[in-house]
Amino acid sequence: MRSETPPIVRLADYRPTDYLIDAVDLDIRLAPDDTLVTAELSLRPNPAGMAGAPLRLDGDELELVSFALDGQTPPAGAWEASPQGLTLRAPPQRPFRLRIQTRLNPAANTRLMGLYRSSGVYCTQCEAEGFRRITYFLDRPDVLSVYTTRIEADAAEAPLLLGNGNPQERGELPGGRHYAVWRDPFPKPCYLFALVAGRLDSVSRTFVTRSGRPVQIAIHVEPGKADRAAYALDALERSMRWDEEVFGREYDLDVFNVVAVSDFNMGAMENKGLNIFNDRYVLASPDTATDLDYANIEAIIAHEYFHNWTGNRITCRDWFQLCLKEGLTVYRDHEFSADQRSRAVRRIADVRTLRSAQFVEDAGPLAHPVRPEQYSEINNFYTATVYEKGAELVRMLGILIGPEKFRAGMDLYFDRHDGQACTVEQFLACFAEVSGENLDHFARWYSQAGTPHVVARGAWDEQAAVWTLTLKQRTPPTPGQPEKRPQVIPVKMGLIGASGREIPLEPDGDAPLRGDVLVFDREELTVTFRNVTERPAPSLLRGFSAPVRLDVNLDDAGELLLFRADTDPFNRWQAAQNLMLKHIVKDVAAIRAGRGATRPGEPAFIGALGDFLATEGGRDPAFAAQALTAPGEGDVAREIGADIDPDAIHAARETLRAMTGRALAPALREIHARADASDGADISAAAAGRRALRNLALDLLAAADPEEGAELAERQFHAAANMTDRLAALNVLAALPGGRREAALAAFEARYRDDPLVLDKWFAVQAMIPEPDTVARVRRLMEHPAFTLTNPNRVRALLSAFSLSNPTQFARRDGEGFALVADAILAIDPKNPQVASRMLTAFRSWRTLEEPRRDQALAALQRIAARPGLSIDAQDILTRMLATK
Ligand code: TRP
Ligand code: ZN
Repeated sequence: MRSETPPIVRLADYRPTDYLIDAVDLDIRLAPDDTLVTAELSLRPNPAGMAGAPLRLDGDELELVSFALDGQTPPAGAWEASPQGLTLRAPPQRPFRLRIQTRLNPAANTRLMGLYRSSGVYCTQCEAEGFRRITYFLDRPDVLSVYTTRIEADAAEAPLLLGNGNPQERGELPGGRHYAVWRDPFPKPCYLFALVAGRLDSVSRTFVTRSGRPVQIAIHVEPGKADRAAYALDALERSMRWDEEVFGREYDLDVFNVVAVSDFNMGAMENKGLNIFNDRYVLASPDTATDLDYANIEAIIAHEYFHNWTGNRITCRDWFQLCLKEGLTVYRDHEFSADQRSRAVRRIADVRTLRSAQFVEDAGPLAHPVRPEQYSEINNFYTATVYEKGAELVRMLGILIGPEKFRAGMDLYFDRHDGQACTVEQFLACFAEVSGENLDHFARWYSQAGTPHVVARGAWDEQAAVWTLTLKQRTPPTPGQPEKRPQVIPVKMGLIGASGREIPLEPDGDAPLRGDVLVFDREELTVTFRNVTERPAPSLLRGFSAPVRLDVNLDDAGELLLFRADTDPFNRWQAAQNLMLKHIVKDVAAIRAGRGATRPGEPAFIGALGDFLATEGGRDPAFAAQALTAPGEGDVAREIGADIDPDAIHAARETLRAMTGRALAPALREIHARADASDGADISAAAAGRRALRNLALDLLAAADPEEGAELAERQFHAAANMTDRLAALNVLAALPGGRREAALAAFEARYRDDPLVLDKWFAVQAMIPEPDTVARVRRLMEHPAFTLTNPNRVRALLSAFSLSNPTQFARRDGEGFALVADAILAIDPKNPQVASRMLTAFRSWRTLEEPRRDQALAALQRIAARPGLSIDAQDILTRMLATK
């Protein structure tokens, strides 16, 4: 067991290790509950460390079998070992070798960190601090070593033996055993170590790098599922080519292996030459995966592959620098996806995620800077802020210095720091150098938490043909940071005249305008534009050029003008969102005042949505689907900010959807009928776009007329030639109480009974039903034979779908929703603290709820906190969530 009170680790306390580990030779003899690990470490004193210091190696729940220094067991008193560490009091002040044997029980490892078994396959997960569960080590990212790994296993149980680097040797052994030796020539931190051993089916091909080197790329999956790995292999090949073309980065080993396992704490892991994936981000066929699943697979395959340069070849000095690899790599995978599919539609989807996950985090008790300054449990810092906001900071950098200098800065970074463990400062210095700009102020984005709130006001002087823009920024306080200073905010902008034309930007004086980017770096800025001869609607923050909240206070006419005529597709979408959001927020107030949501007449924007559908629906259906999708209940809650009543939000949003569906019914019916049966199993982005619009049409029709919707959905459900259409129909049916819903759910269950990943969709659909019976339904489903608390995907499908996507039932006034999730967290925590603490974050907005919901949430959190023996992971989240500022 770990210690009771977690020590706090601080960035300010960083110092290099006193010893370096140049080489690691591992011999791992696998057996399900008795694995023997022999580690031979070549160490030497670190010239940058303290001479003569003791050596303290990290461990976590380890059992030591034997220990030797240069071939001999040192005398008692010279060293000491416990499950948590091994200390050598006075190591030699010259190169020396340690031989450490540990015994592991992979079958009993339910934390899914270190070496464990998943459906009979041996696999590892070492980031962030899992290697210390395999052997005693300097488990931190600034210790880089060359690894040789010999893996031995039963040949029948584990015909496939994979390690990092290149295969060196393999052979048979007596007693039905066999072995393989892998060698990774690239020095790496231990968090990138991996091995896999098991019975797996594979798809593979040869990728030839642009300099002509052949690489054997392969995807390994559960036996019988190789046909579902074809798409991932294709995405991998496209990722490799893209990184060559766009960033000039080539792959560097002879092989690249990807393994899919069914028990995995997160999405995937970038181990050098041996990526290990949650199988839900590998396996796909038209019958089992939705278009969203395909897009996620493509993005995550790319993400892990891109880590080979941003993360592996250049790694992090310490875990405070996590965004150095994660933010940058998310930026790279966003760009890749934008190039593979529609750029505008990808950007909209990415910003939706940013706002629904990161903005919420930034506004609550778990807010932290992109580069945190302290942590007690590093696993709790793999957050939307580090990943998604971290990616936005890289994007802003590109906007500020321009694409050519950005690429030059990346080239310099790769060139200068290859093989090193780096900091954010070293990264930024490369861009400062190539651009000649001082990025000190920009660097504040990494240290200051919170989402800046930008208020923009325009004034048009018709006589003088002058338009004046005033910008103000303010960042609300976050935990530990009561005072905030202004950020450098790139505001990409344009002006759309009342006639619909784009007005050229002619700023007065020394306005900080670079091209179409206004560099807004102080509390308040006023800029005057000349020759504005017609009333303009400002199109600000085009493409979402900065991760801020923007309040422009345009009237409906201005928003409608942008929706119709803006040349920036993101802002066209944003204008439609603003119009719908304003309407919903007004209705929420009306509902709460007891006036009901229905007001006479139909707002003008509904007509505009109809016009838009008629023109854009055929041209870019994916974009049209995004524009017609109402803001989510979470978006509305964020807009309202405090004293949240999820039932009123739900009702107001449904009212808008019904109104939209009624007003556009003829067009929606035609769209739904037109595409009927046309796309089948075509998984192209174009076909996915048509399906998105068609299924949105179904959804709106059902909102307007449940009877009509149910009939259409039922037909679609049975006729569907792909999972996207089938699941969309099931979602519509699930929202309508009665026999039809239960029949469809039963049919889906029968069809996919033996397919856990598909049953996850079935669990999630039911967990999201916004009805009071859902709590009982979820409790019932937890007893379903396919459900288990030990598989993170099952837990997320049922319980995270409930806590994150069913706000009316999770935040029930009687507290039953919170109690359900609290019970699950308490049951999971002893087995898998990482999954439990992530589930806890679903409570992060609890203080914004109205009474009595807020009190109910507090009661649930206090009940969890009172449980003795709670993991450090869970304690860390609870402490921050319950802190009174
Ligand atoms: N580095 C991984 C990625 O983003 C994610 C990761 C971190 C992870 N810690 C993990 C995955 C623990 C699984 C388990 O690409
Ligand atoms: Zn990553």
